[in-house]
Amino acid sequence: MSAPAAANRRIVLVSRPQGRPTLDSFRLEETSVPGIQAGEILLRTVWLSLDPYMRGRMSDAPSYAAPVEIGAVMTGGTVARVEQSLHPDFRIGELVVAMSGWQDYAVSKGRDVVKLPPAVSHPSYALGVLGMPGMTAYIGLLDYGKPQPGETGVVAAATGAVGSLVGQIAKIKGSRVVGIAGGAEKCAWATGQLGFDACVDHRSEDFPARLAAACPRGIDVYFENVGGKVFRAVVPLLNAHSRIPLCGLISLYNDARGSPDGETAQSFLRTVLIKRITVRGFIVSDTYAQRSAEVLAALESWLREGRIKYREDVVRGLENAPSAFIGLMEGRNFGKLIVDVGGTHP
Ligand SMILES: NC(=O)c1ccc[n+]([C@@H]2O[C@H](COP(=O)([O-])OP(=O)(O)OC[C@H]3O[C@@H](n4cnc5c(N)ncnc54)[C@H](OP(=O)(O)O)[C@@H]3O)[C@@H](O)[C@H]2O)c1
Repeated sequence: MSAPAAANRRIVLVSRPQGRPTLDSFRLEETSVPGIQAGEILLRTVWLSLDPYMRGRMSDAPSYAAPVEIGAVMTGGTVARVEQSLHPDFRIGELVVAMSGWQDYAVSKGRDVVKLPPAVSHPSYALGVLGMPGMTAYIGLLDYGKPQPGETGVVAAATGAVGSLVGQIAKIKGSRVVGIAGGAEKCAWATGQLGFDACVDHRSEDFPARLAAACPRGIDVYFENVGGKVFRAVVPLLNAHSRIPLCGLISLYNDARGSPDGETAQSFLRTVLIKRITVRGFIVSDTYAQRSAEVLAALESWLREGRIKYREDVVRGLENAPSAFIGLMEGRNFGKLIVDVGGTHP
């Protein structure tokens, strides 16, 4: 166990960005390490997860979750070590998954804190393939996408935390898989390492034509992570009775204008009608409690058997979280983005 530090570094929200967040949207503060009372634990952050949903928490526009208050610590999932305990269920040194935010230390009463097994080999995987993004990929694709052998599945943000798993699970289920990703290096990884049948760079000049060429039998399942021009290129290729698990719309998150214009929406609804398409928006936290044991067991066995590969993009130091997060919204990450916050690693 490391000696308790004198200070708690934490990153707070300074203002609500209009459009792209900048470094000025955040402030690094130092406070004293909080003390604990009976029934509480002191958590030391080891790994911090950076995720696109955090852009929504920076905004006070109506959403499915409350925004981070101005001046409050940025919200975030962590793998943390129990540094002090006055709680009967937690012992010093145990590793847990918590929502303890962008900071070195946090006090918890133990609710919504999940212990990791003592011999866990990759604790940070609990923030990715064996955590929220893994659950998202599995539930979204299998419950709502319902891929059938021989069908064509297309996934956007194909090399990211969620997308890389969606494509690999679709392959396991017998689909032909086409990824969409930003840049040649990401696409080469999707086909060379993840086993996708094709991958199209959404930054290429003739992206819609390339996507059409990669999907000669149309698209049966489109796993939507992105929206915008990627979505517009997908729509004409959708087959009758296709399914769209609507997981995210990251290309819109920095767009202060918000929802699409009425004409685009009307034209898409017409396509939904004439092709009898199923569009299913979902938020993974709705199903987490009921499904996590089953889903994480399946993902863990595929990982152990080498049937799915998983890539992390590790940023060192809490102070670098804001720039890494801004980069996530621009595709600078390559794999699941996590911050090594510097607690002594197990
Ligand atoms: N519904 C839920 O419960 C749920 C849960 C988790 C995640 N999500 C959503 O799933 C999506 C992926 O999340 P993740 O955690 O796996 O992130 P990620 O894919 O690891 O990282 C985000 C990726 O999005 C792509 N991107 C960013 N801006 C873009 C733009 N303007 N146009 C096209 N692509 C852009 C970039 O990939 P390229 O470089 O390849 O473009 C970037 O690397 C997000 O939309 C997120 O909100 C939803």
